[in-house]
Amino acid sequence: METVLSGIRPTGNLHLGNYFGAVQNFIKMQESYNCYFFIADWHSLTTHPTPADLHNNVTQILAEYLACGIDPEKATLYIQSEVPEIAELYLLLNMNAYVGELERTTTFKDKVRAQPENVNAGLLTYPVLQTADIIIHKATKVPVGKDQEQNVEIARKYARRFNQMYNVECFPEPQPFNFGENLVKIPGLDGSGKMGKSEGNGVFLYEDADSIRKKVMRAVTDAGPQSLNSEVSEPIQNLFTLMKAVSNPDTLQFFTEAYANCNIRYGDLKKQLAEDIVQFTSPFREKINAIKADEVYLRKVVNLGTEKARESASKTLEEVRKVIGFKKF
Ligand code: TRP
Repeated sequence: METVLSGIRPTGNLHLGNYFGAVQNFIKMQESYNCYFFIADWHSLTTHPTPADLHNNVTQILAEYLACGIDPEKATLYIQSEVPEIAELYLLLNMNAYVGELERTTTFKDKVRAQPENVNAGLLTYPVLQTADIIIHKATKVPVGKDQEQNVEIARKYARRFNQMYNVECFPEPQPFNFGENLVKIPGLDGSGKMGKSEGNGVFLYEDADSIRKKVMRAVTDAGPQSLNSEVSEPIQNLFTLMKAVSNPDTLQFFTEAYANCNIRYGDLKKQLAEDIVQFTSPFREKINAIKADEVYLRKVVNLGTEKARESASKTLEEVRKVIGFKKF
């Protein structure tokens, strides 16, 4: 069975884009692949969260993953910092990672521009840690968005480099995995582009009803259709795409026809969309809260995940140590 692995930084909640674009596919994949899903809390340290925030953020994402249907029995769901083997592999991989190539990665260059006051070494070696995350379980499929493809490419390079350096077949080369035609792209509410964490254009699974309504009512629209059956403009198409995800088909059809007939009222469209999003997300919100309140369950999930992840990670690490030349005395 092929091994699938994906990580998420615990910064900010899951939004509808994450849900339809990624998590929903994780839920499917856990049925037919050997899946590892983890919370990249070490990676989140590059932005220096407070101790209280760190723990709350990890708990929140964990509860959100569980509420969405990731099954800790089927998949291995774990917290990165609970698996020290990853840190050791990271240290070892750092010896074969060159500063120049790391400095040239797009994500690093973006960070240097965005936060010149905090260009820490963790940012520079972020892709090395991500490589360790991936290859410690010998994963071959890494479901990630476009923005992460370069990091997966680096992981492939370092896996290959290790194999060549020691003339072994220790690591398979991981490939970014996008879901092909199953990939649903959820747009933001700001007229163009996809829903993102930092863009301020998203609706979160955990968001309360009033806040959702306010956001949707403020969504960008256009001047309205000027002639019968005119092409749908991008901001309106985006609202239709969201509607397709959360509303029932009749609703979408009603508004698409109203647009074609030039009698659409954007106020009504947004009101309906807001209500449908609220209806879609509120069960998640309730589930997330119930899970967060259940310390016993959370502890059980974390312990099970840690155990399964460490079992696989320690096997790989033992092999790596041997390849490098560490010997028991
Ligand atoms: N860098 C990823 C992000 O920012 C998170 C991540 C960390 C990850 N380690 C990973 C993703 C390993 C896939 C595989 O979203």
